[in-house]
Amino acid sequence: MTRQFYITTPIYYINAQPHIGHAYTTMVADAMARSQRLLGADVFFLTGTDEHGQKVERAAQKAGVDTRTFANDVAGSFRQMCRDLSITNDDFIRTTEPRHHRAAQALWRRVAANGDIYKGDYEGWYCTVDEIFVPETQLVDGRCPTCGGKVERLKEQSYYFRLSKYQQPLLDFYRAHPAFVQPDFRFNEVRSFVEAGLQDLSISRTSFRWGIPVPDDPAHVMYVWFDALTNYLTALGFGADGSEAQARVERYWPVVIHLIGKEILRQHALYWPAFLMAAGINPPERIIAHGWWLMGGAKMSKSAGNVARYQDYVRVFGVDALRYFVMREMPLGLDANFSDEGVLTRFNADLANDLGNLVSRTTTMIHRYCDGVVPAPGERDELDASLERQIGGTIGAVVRQFEQFQITVALQETWELIRFVNQYIVKREPWALAKRPEQRAMLDATLYHAADALRVTAALIDPVMPEAAERIRRMLGTAQERWTDLTAGGLQPGTRLGPTEPLFPRIEKTLEELRTMTPDETPAPAEQKAATPAEQKPAAPAEEPRVTIDEFMKVDLRVAKVLEAEAIPKSKKLLKLKVDTGRDQRTIVAGIAEAYQPEQLVGRSIVIVANLQPAKLMGVESNGMVLAGSPDGGQPVLVGFDQDLPPGARVR
Ligand code: MSP
Repeated sequence: MTRQFYITTPIYYINAQPHIGHAYTTMVADAMARSQRLLGADVFFLTGTDEHGQKVERAAQKAGVDTRTFANDVAGSFRQMCRDLSITNDDFIRTTEPRHHRAAQALWRRVAANGDIYKGDYEGWYCTVDEIFVPETQLVDGRCPTCGGKVERLKEQSYYFRLSKYQQPLLDFYRAHPAFVQPDFRFNEVRSFVEAGLQDLSISRTSFRWGIPVPDDPAHVMYVWFDALTNYLTALGFGADGSEAQARVERYWPVVIHLIGKEILRQHALYWPAFLMAAGINPPERIIAHGWWLMGGAKMSKSAGNVARYQDYVRVFGVDALRYFVMREMPLGLDANFSDEGVLTRFNADLANDLGNLVSRTTTMIHRYCDGVVPAPGERDELDASLERQIGGTIGAVVRQFEQFQITVALQETWELIRFVNQYIVKREPWALAKRPEQRAMLDATLYHAADALRVTAALIDPVMPEAAERIRRMLGTAQERWTDLTAGGLQPGTRLGPTEPLFPRIEKTLEELRTMTPDETPAPAEQKAATPAEQKPAAPAEEPRVTIDEFMKVDLRVAKVLEAEAIPKSKKLLKLKVDTGRDQRTIVAGIAEAYQPEQLVGRSIVIVANLQPAKLMGVESNGMVLAGSPDGGQPVLVGFDQDLPPGARVR
């Protein structure tokens, strides 16, 4: 029986143009949708735009255009993003569409009919950036705790949703669905929040007009989150007449997975199931909250002014390389740093070197030694069998990891296979076998197994890098395969290869050159040559000396909080930090001035080596060392945590 798989991205606000953050969620959802299609599921993949609310009204005014024109324009940019990034969404929903107004009003009526909506007065602090009332106790220096923006005092008549009534039903639901929110530690946050007690939620506004009118009381428009969350049902046909719409709702609801950023977890894991319960509809099956892309240590966002444009990376590295980078770099649920250095390093190491070389050496040798036709494998020896086992194991592992949304791990597994095949080729030295006619059988076996592994590799990278997968298949002369049929040894001997072409040519430019490239200077990467035998021997990895656990434990790594930070006169690299180590306050000199401004650091938790001997740097005594990572020749990035830890906490 066919399994349904319905996956959604958040619908994006249209007060800003799309950036890497929006691109990320959309690309991950796309990879998931593609993987499920390869597994034979009946997939429905939805993305779109969230277009109502005061901040859209204001952004349009600021741009000097009417709100609808403004909305059409930015929604167009998000649609374009989908095209630019090879996204295979089945629908693109806009909340300004009539079908959505109908659906949101239908949901409202059902909740109201259940007695869960009432009218009252509301006064409180409202953040127009996040469209949310912030309880006074949560304000940070009088500002919104989430975005740091200004809050306004608002008093208005409002409809309320009886959220308090759903505290126990929500807790019961969470207990019955232990995998409802992933990762688990995020689920715990939601649970604790609900356990602490819920207040009724104001779900209408009278202070602006750009929204969906409340049924039978058009002076009110719906709170944007009531409106926005409903989109996931609208796209299936909820609120529309006719049995077809009804059938589609039943087909894909509630087997839905909402992929979101962690900042909108509460709305999805709490408000949304409560609204649905009130309407007599089952809550969604799963909410997956991913982390944030950081730039210079802060969340990439329009309001922080530190966004990276996806277009710039597509232009220099190509769509597939961008898709690969973000999915390889950010493990599910954790934050990750976005940097040009990171993208360039992964491009050259993983794509050009590991994958690119495998493709080019395998196909080139089949052309050279076998007239471009896949040879028959003949007898297998132990080395061939071990490669086959590796292929089989990797297929199983990749499928399992995708099913758990662990795309990063799936890619790591695939790259282990790629490196295994590269080593297999080096061990066999087919270029030497080709010189000895009596070794023909071994040469054929080697090239067959390498090409077979490459065919499987193409299938496994397909959800993440669909274009590269297709190009490998063209070079191999094979067709796309479902994951359900994928096994080692599936390559047909006698298959005629297509022409070999460079897949990910190394980018030899420096970061400086890449940054200053104009749009028509598309990257002119070095030609990816067919590997010569000499090049095919990777340098043997040097044995790193190991330390014992006791030696490691001598290093006292601790969490510390930065109390003060200042530049050190005449030093380009050094900053003087005063930190709280939980036990004392001390001065540490850190070589991070080129990457961080002093004011970005105050209040931040860092990791220090607490028992380092003091040293004087530029005349200042430093009592410890700050931990940061840095790519070759790149800027340091401070080590951090995805949850706050108190100063003094041990790190190991
Ligand atoms: N409109 C609401 C969502 C309503 S869903 C019913 C919204 N829109 S948004 O435009 O602010 O998009 C937020 C989403 O964009 C995040 O949840 C995440 O999916 C993605 N990201 C935006 N910035 C991001 C990062 N810096 N890093 C990772 N993802 C980010 O909230």
